[in-house]
Amino acid sequence: MALRLILLLQLAVLVWELEVAAELALPGCASHCGNISIPYPFGTTPECYLNQDFFINCNSTHQAFLTDSNIDVLSISVSGQLRVLSYVARDCYNKSGQRVANNDPWMTLAKFPISHTRNKFMTVGCDTYAFIKGSSGKKYKTGCLSLCESKDSVINGSCSGIGCCQTTIPVNVTSIDISVDSYDSYTGVWEFNPCGFAFVAEDGYFNFSSADLLDLQNKTKVPTVLDWTIGDEKCDQAKENGTSYACKDNSYCYDPDNGPGYRCNCSEGYEGNPYLLNGCKDIDECEVDNPCNVTHTCRNLPGSFSCFCPAGYEGDGFKIGTGCSPMPSSESKFPLVNVALGISISLLVLLLVSSWLYWGFRKRKLIKLKEKFFEQNGGIMLQQLLSKHEGFAEATKIFTTEDLKKATNNYDERRVLGRGGQGTVYKGILADNRVVAVKKSKIMDQSQVEQFINEVIILSQVNHRNVVKLLGCCLETEVPLLVYEFVINGTLYDHLHNQDQTYSISWETRLRIATETAGALWYLHSAASTPIIHRDVKSTNILLDNNYTAKVSDFGASRLIPLDQAQLTTLVQGTLGYLDPEYFHSSQLTEKSDVYSFGVVLVELLTGKKALSFDRLEEERNLAMFFVSSMKDDRLFEILDDRVLNEGNTKHLKEVAILAKRCLMVKGEERPTMKEVAMELEGLRILETHPWVNNNSNPEETEYLIGQSQDAYKGDNSSNIIGYDSIRDQVMVDFNGGR
Ligand SMILES: *[C@@H]1O[C@H](CO)[C@@H](O)[C@H](O)[C@H]1NC(C)=O
Ligand SMILES: *[C@@H]1O[C@H](CO)[C@@H](O)[C@H](O)[C@H]1NC(C)=O
Ligand SMILES: *[C@@H]1O[C@H](CO)[C@@H](O)[C@H](O)[C@H]1NC(C)=O
Ligand SMILES: *[C@@H]1O[C@H](CO)[C@@H](O)[C@H](O)[C@H]1NC(C)=O
Ligand SMILES: *[C@@H]1O[C@H](CO)[C@@H](O)[C@H](O)[C@H]1NC(C)=O
Ligand SMILES: *[C@@H]1O[C@H](CO)[C@@H](O)[C@H](O)[C@H]1NC(C)=O
Ligand SMILES: *[C@@H]1O[C@H](CO)[C@@H](O)[C@H](O)[C@H]1NC(C)=O
Ligand SMILES: *[C@@H]1O[C@H](CO)[C@@H](O)[C@H](O)[C@H]1NC(C)=O
Ligand SMILES: *[C@@H]1O[C@H](CO)[C@@H](O)[C@H](O)[C@H]1NC(C)=O
Ligand SMILES: *[C@@H]1O[C@H](CO)[C@@H](O)[C@H](O)[C@H]1NC(C)=O
Repeated sequence: MALRLILLLQLAVLVWELEVAAELALPGCASHCGNISIPYPFGTTPECYLNQDFFINCNSTHQAFLTDSNIDVLSISVSGQLRVLSYVARDCYNKSGQRVANNDPWMTLAKFPISHTRNKFMTVGCDTYAFIKGSSGKKYKTGCLSLCESKDSVINGSCSGIGCCQTTIPVNVTSIDISVDSYDSYTGVWEFNPCGFAFVAEDGYFNFSSADLLDLQNKTKVPTVLDWTIGDEKCDQAKENGTSYACKDNSYCYDPDNGPGYRCNCSEGYEGNPYLLNGCKDIDECEVDNPCNVTHTCRNLPGSFSCFCPAGYEGDGFKIGTGCSPMPSSESKFPLVNVALGISISLLVLLLVSSWLYWGFRKRKLIKLKEKFFEQNGGIMLQQLLSKHEGFAEATKIFTTEDLKKATNNYDERRVLGRGGQGTVYKGILADNRVVAVKKSKIMDQSQVEQFINEVIILSQVNHRNVVKLLGCCLETEVPLLVYEFVINGTLYDHLHNQDQTYSISWETRLRIATETAGALWYLHSAASTPIIHRDVKSTNILLDNNYTAKVSDFGASRLIPLDQAQLTTLVQGTLGYLDPEYFHSSQLTEKSDVYSFGVVLVELLTGKKALSFDRLEEERNLAMFFVSSMKDDRLFEILDDRVLNEGNTKHLKEVAILAKRCLMVKGEERPTMKEVAMELEGLRILETHPWVNNNSNPEETEYLIGQSQDAYKGDNSSNIIGYDSIRDQVMVDFNGGR
């Protein structure tokens, strides 16, 4: 049994590894060459790499070469490094001081510079000096000198001039040429050191010891790290350029400090390949190392995590270190007193009888009261309507007071999720363990009963993934209670205006939220049998679930469209900052009022600023007005949220801003309909998530080569090449393939 479990686990790990590996490359592309993984933008065939720079030539014996060159690739990291092999320079003598071997290796790279942080130029020998020269935009030349008198004088593990010398490589080096020489032809040290060596090796690869003075003879190549980047542009320019921008969802762009071009990195809380669509995967922080207090339950969220109090505990479990206290039990336990049995029994009987009488009386009274409320709240009307709308009856449940009292722990203050103009919302747990939101409305006007019932009917019919689902209601209390699905991730407002960066949402997600919200409003305006105006669209009424899917909520103010004027004026509950300016003249809210409010939400998403804030300068207090005037002055990019500016494509951002401006037109008829808004956003979203359709129309010819010949180095600077010039050694590289 245990064995089988272990096998199963191993299988799961294997499958997982395969999956992870498969996500390195584009779909249908080889992710490995032998045991070397090839992450996109690299690839082994034209349809698998981003452009010719990223071509990995994988030959049939599974050796990987950089483009068409003879540069051996050892490994590629998605974070921007490429490990290749480069030659060791050697200068060897025989006992009589005659040179028996000397080679001067060089390497020319078409694009990717040698990493200045991860490599060292090293010289080994006891009578040795070596030069490295090359090009780093300008020409550069430097050198290293190492001497020693005996084998015992060297210090193992230390490369500081005695038998070993090292120096750093400057930035932006795309070609190197190494030469090594001797002062006295190793006379006096020949016994233990007949050769001098020089090479550019990955920092940490070579740990000098006295044995190397002899042993290095047998080492011809060492690993060297290159820094790879995309294109020649900086992030800003690349983003401007749109279609070829390589950083995909949940990633950001940065400019590395070595050479031209940019790189992408997965956003915080994500890992994977930022160059692939959906390549950055959410890190399950709860799995990796549970970051919550031991008493808390950890729940993974896209890009972050939450900590919750465990069952039976309550409190603000959201952040580490905050307390979860035991939930007070509703029945308190009577202490058992050691009293004479007879007295106990008689007392008990007395108690039972009297309480039975009392509760019976109260119960009858309560039932009467409930019936009254039920009637008053339109329960009978609802029951009739529900029975007419067959099929909806099962979806919409009529809850009893007991159900909801139990679910909300008797409307415990700690269960309050939010308070609004129309009532308080509690978190509740139903008997079947479903988590729900229970909305307790404020005192209800008798004249509104019909509207209320209508709302229940409408909402129970609405079945849209971006509208919070109404599960049922309870009419037995003086004020009716509505039971909604519980949406776990809070409101859009929380996420946009919380200072805590972990809440921040990516531009892609913001655009999706906007699209979903617009779609839901369009649906309410048009698709439902009778049009519904929401009347209070704002970021606090857009809830987000685990996947940041938008759920439009709070239809407390929404009504069916045909309404007479008088009711309209009394019912308006719009929120300042979102309220249609036309309302002040006409006292009417229309579908276009929802468009206006949605426009404000769109601006909130773009700028990350609150709709109305008294902390701001007077002219900036009302976000909608401030936005419109900024657009007029062509200052849009000054007021956008940093993250949006960083991640969004400039052209698309402009288009969204123009759309928002149209929604904010003072005259309702000049605003687009919700349908137009939803469709335009959907179109932009498709562009944003699939930004590259064509690419690579004119791949420049690039070549890489390594070799050992000075003449070759002097030649073509735009190709990759390594090699060495050999006087005695016949280690020559065939350049023909690389030219
Ligand atoms: C690939 O395999 C060779 C030997 O088979 C080994 O030396 C090398 O380290 C491996 N490379 C990687 C990246 O695992
Ligand atoms: C692959 O490349 C290596 C190194 O150049 C070479 O030794 C080997 O023969 C090549 N294999 C084939 C099948 O071309
Ligand atoms: C050293 O090399 C030179 C030239 O190659 C040769 O003439 C001489 O005999 C060599 N000496 C020894 C000791 O091998
Ligand atoms: C890096 O080198 C390229 C040419 O190799 C040159 O155009 C560029 O200006 C250099 N950049 C820096 C920062 O030196
Ligand atoms: C290098 O070798 C020395 C001994 O030869 C050892 O003490 C030291 O830890 C080594 N350093 C590294 C980085 O491996
Ligand atoms: C240095 O390391 C070599 C082998 O790596 C060893 O033979 C020698 O004894 C060491 N020298 C010292 C001083 O530890
Ligand atoms: C170099 O390798 C050869 C065989 O490959 C061996 O005979 C020789 O001893 C090695 N030399 C050193 C200094 O390790
Ligand atoms: C956009 O990209 C193309 C090729 O990728 C390049 O030629 C052009 O200069 C770029 N434009 C800007 C503004 O960076
Ligand atoms: C890239 O992301 C990783 C993981 O989040 C982080 O450790 C690293 O510092 C980031 N690099 C840059 C240049 O932002
Ligand atoms: C964990 O929670 C308990 C009580 O909820 C608290 O006393 C303790 O300090 C917390 N521990 C940490 C590490 O936050």
